[in-house]
Parts: sequence; structure tokens; C-alpha cells
Amino acid sequence: MAIVLAIETSCDETAVAIVNNRQICSSIVASQIPVHQQYGGVVPEVASRQHLETINWAIAQSMEQAQLNWEQIDGIAATCAPGLVGALLVGLTAAKTLAILHNKPFLGVHHLEGHIYATYLSEPTLDPPFLSLLVSGGHTSLIYVKNCGDYKTLGETRDDAAGEAFDKVARLLKLGYPGGPVIDRLAQQGNPQAFALPEGKVSLPAGGYHPYDGSFSGLKTAVLRLVQQLEKNGGQVPVADVAASFQETVARSLTKRAIACALDYGLNTIAVGGGVAANSGLRKNLQAAAAKHNLRVLFPHLEFCTDNAAMIACAAAEHLSLGHTSPITLGVESRLALTQVMKLYQSD
Ligand code: KG4
Ligand code: ZN
Repeated sequence: MAIVLAIETSCDETAVAIVNNRQICSSIVASQIPVHQQYGGVVPEVASRQHLETINWAIAQSMEQAQLNWEQIDGIAATCAPGLVGALLVGLTAAKTLAILHNKPFLGVHHLEGHIYATYLSEPTLDPPFLSLLVSGGHTSLIYVKNCGDYKTLGETRDDAAGEAFDKVARLLKLGYPGGPVIDRLAQQGNPQAFALPEGKVSLPAGGYHPYDGSFSGLKTAVLRLVQQLEKNGGQVPVADVAASFQETVARSLTKRAIACALDYGLNTIAVGGGVAANSGLRKNLQAAAAKHNLRVLFPHLEFCTDNAAMIACAAAEHLSLGHTSPITLGVESRLALTQVMKLYQSD
């Protein structure tokens, strides 16, 4: 059993949470979205400054909400990779300072391992092996989860991530940032069959298509061409129909690959994580397809799909209970493959 306080500052949320293994004691998420909205996307330098201004308040709030004192905390963690370097440094430095001050073990956490662990918060009995479909703003991967810290990438996007595709399509439809939630809302009023769009299959040199890898950049370009064509024809762009058709195409393409991968590898559980796991189209599509194949599909609660610190604390608690800690000299990394996560730990 381990009670862990974790800090997440890899992008545009300043988040602090405390968990007792897979049970949440407190979770604070201070979103910077309104600040970045005026620029149409995340501005890294602005993000770092915002984290710096909010972090001490978020730590205090998290302790107060959990009604715990520092003696009761077993470890302090922070996301250390991948992400915006300046933003990550704020959280990591705060966590190291707290660990030294209160004489606690310190752990760096891989952001994507956190997204995998978000499902454990709603399904505390979940255990590996299972297939993780990670769909965030920066990543789209199918991961074979063998054990805590033991991951194998089975499929990924060759270009844009799923969330990135939502954000880019929202920008070209002039819907603002972040794009996922707006498209999701609009899609509910549109016809998903209105326009046929490419699913983004990846050709293999020997013929046929890659079973698990995909590509979203062609889909984004197809939406751009479609909008240009509709505008050229002089009519009003049916934004809800475009949003619904785009969302349906992303959901169908992710669903097909995830189901094929789970069946091929004999994994009967698919756990979805990352911001796009909140998407209603993906949830519906994947649930329906999984039911047909007798597979179990699990999603985190909506608030734990997008970035939060509870998922980071949950991953750290598992590592800590296995005796893994990080050296206090650990640095941040803008990129780090999930398969490299054990690089962050030393065993005692
Ligand atoms: O996991 P996340 O919070 O941050 C990263 O680690 O990247 O994911 C953010 C991404 C953004 O691209 C956002 O547009 C997308 O998740 N997103 C959604 C939805 N909510 C957030 N995409 C589709 N549908 C949603 N409901
Ligand atoms: Zn994330």
C-alpha cells in the first residue's frame, strides 16, 4: 500500500493529486486552456509561467482536500517525460523539493504510463495483460501491457496523433482550441454518413495494409479539400455534418485496428486512455465492436481521460510498491518511448 502525491505539468494543465494505490484522495486540475485559447494553441513559454504561478496553490489544495499531513505521504512523484521541457521542469522541481524537504522517496513518471493507469482508477481490479489504446494530443498507439513498466508497442500513427487531428480539423473549421470537445459536441447534431473520408490505412511494401499502424494526416487534408470544395460551390459549409463524418472516420479507424490487434494477440481487454478516450463516437464504436467479439473495453471516467495528476500518482504508487524509486538527479525529457520507462527507476 502506498499513498503518493503526484504533480503533472507536461502541457497545459497544472495538476496535483494524492492517491492511496488506486483510490483517489484528492485531485486538483487547474486548466490553462482559456489562457492559450487566444493564441489558438499551447504556447510553451506561457505554459511554464502559468505552472509556476499555480503550482504551490495546487499542492496546498490537494493536501487540504485529502485531509492528510506530510507524515502520511509515502512518496512524491512528477511527470518527467514526454512533454514541454520548461513545463515539465516546474512540476519535477517542485516534486524533488517536496521529497527532499519531507524526506520521502521521489519518482519520475512517464506521461503515457499515467494515461494507461487512468483506467485503474475506475477499474481497481484490472490487471495485465491487456491492450492499451492510447489516444492523446501527441500520441496514438496500441500497447501490449505485460506488467507495470513492461510495455510493447504493437501499432502507432505514422504522422498526426488522433487528438492532433481533432485540433487541426477544428482549426480549419474555425472552431477554436482544443478541437476535440467542440467537434464531439457538434458531431452529435450532424450526419456521420454525410461525407465519405479516408480511414488512413498504411500500405505495406509487399502489398496490403499494415494491420495496426495508421495515418491521420491524409484524413485532415481530405477534410481541408472537402471544406474548400464546399466553399467554392458557394454554399454554407455544413459544419456539424463535416464534424460528424470526420469523428466517425477516426472512431472507425481506431476501432478496427484495436479490435484486430486484441484478437490477434489473444487479449480480451482493451483499456483506452488519453484525451480522445473522452470522445463519444469512439466510445460508442469501440463498445459496439468489442461486444460483437466478446471483448471487454474499459474507459477512464471522463475527467481522467484528459491530463490529470491522479493517473500519474496511481502509476507512481504501483512502481513504489514494487520498490522502484528515481534518483533525485533525474531530468526531464521532451521525448521518451514508453518502452524505456524502466530507465527512470532504480530498485532498492
Ligand atoms: O491526453 P491529453 O489531455 O493531452 C495529451 O497528453 O496530449 O489529450 C488532449 C487531446 C487534445 O488534442 C483534445 O482535442 C483531445 O485530447 N480531446 C478530445 C476530446 N476531449 C479532448 N478529442 C476528441 N473528443 C473529445 N471529447
Ligand atoms: Zn496526456
